[in-house]
Amino acid sequence: MFRNLRKRWQVSPFQLFLVLLTFTLGGSLCGWLGRQILEMLPIPAGILWMVLYIVLVTLLWPICVLIISVLTGQYAFFTKYIRRILGRFTGKKAAIPAKLAIFASGTGSNAREIIEFFNNQGNRRIATVNLVVTNNPDAGVVNMAKNEGIPVLHIAKERFFSGDNYLSELKQNEIKYVILAGFLWKVPPAIIAAFPNRILNIHPALLPKFGGRGMYGHNVHEAVIAAGEKYSGISIHEVNEHYDEGNPIFQAQCEIDPGETPQSLAKKIQQLEHTHYPRVIKEYITKPNRG
Ligand code: GAR
Repeated sequence: MFRNLRKRWQVSPFQLFLVLLTFTLGGSLCGWLGRQILEMLPIPAGILWMVLYIVLVTLLWPICVLIISVLTGQYAFFTKYIRRILGRFTGKKAAIPAKLAIFASGTGSNAREIIEFFNNQGNRRIATVNLVVTNNPDAGVVNMAKNEGIPVLHIAKERFFSGDNYLSELKQNEIKYVILAGFLWKVPPAIIAAFPNRILNIHPALLPKFGGRGMYGHNVHEAVIAAGEKYSGISIHEVNEHYDEGNPIFQAQCEIDPGETPQSLAKKIQQLEHTHYPRVIKEYITKPNRG
């Protein structure tokens, strides 16, 4: 039951605890307040009292829950929750967030930043991460996703590059965008065709330099330093059938200091990635011409 709730609300185990705590305390506060108000009025116990109590509690519930949600840090969650409930009565539906699949096979620090960024958008959330796809069962991203309550799809080479390319799973999960964050396999043509202009990748260097097969993680930073570059940075681009050659979307750069090592450069690059990737994804998805 808790697993289903976490999946439905897209919350971590700790956030689920805070949400349930808010429901409990908010509900108790609202019952207590309802009784206090009715006791101040000259209404005898009976059917009328019960009806008024139910009406009062219904009206007080959103206010009480919102007050408690401020204390538990869940205000953003509950404003969206209450708006959705009100929408059911008024017939107005909240915009449905686009579902993202993150493909990753590393530690998953970018995946985590993206998940948290969209979780923290409250009722303005335009996307949710619904699936993490990995070819590496031991990757850090697997545990991270589990802690966030996001299902993980483990993929095998043969089926990824032939057969149905796991398109059925992507379809089942109603995935609209594919986000590569440290995914090292080439994306097969069938997936590119199924997600036209809907696949983004991040690369830890200023493309078109230092891209292509074998250029990932520390290999990239070592090559950049060995080439005596003054700057490195990050590139976010659409994905096509060639490694790191899709339409560029965004770049940010950092200086390479004297004595820079691949490790120190990796830290600067990671900082840039975490700062920009979630925001760039959001802007990409919300472009006016996107359906
Ligand atoms: C990121 O630096 C990303 O740019 C890189 O893998 C790292 C994943 O880190 N991607 C490539 O090198 C693709 N060619 P993370 O697992 O901590 O998010």
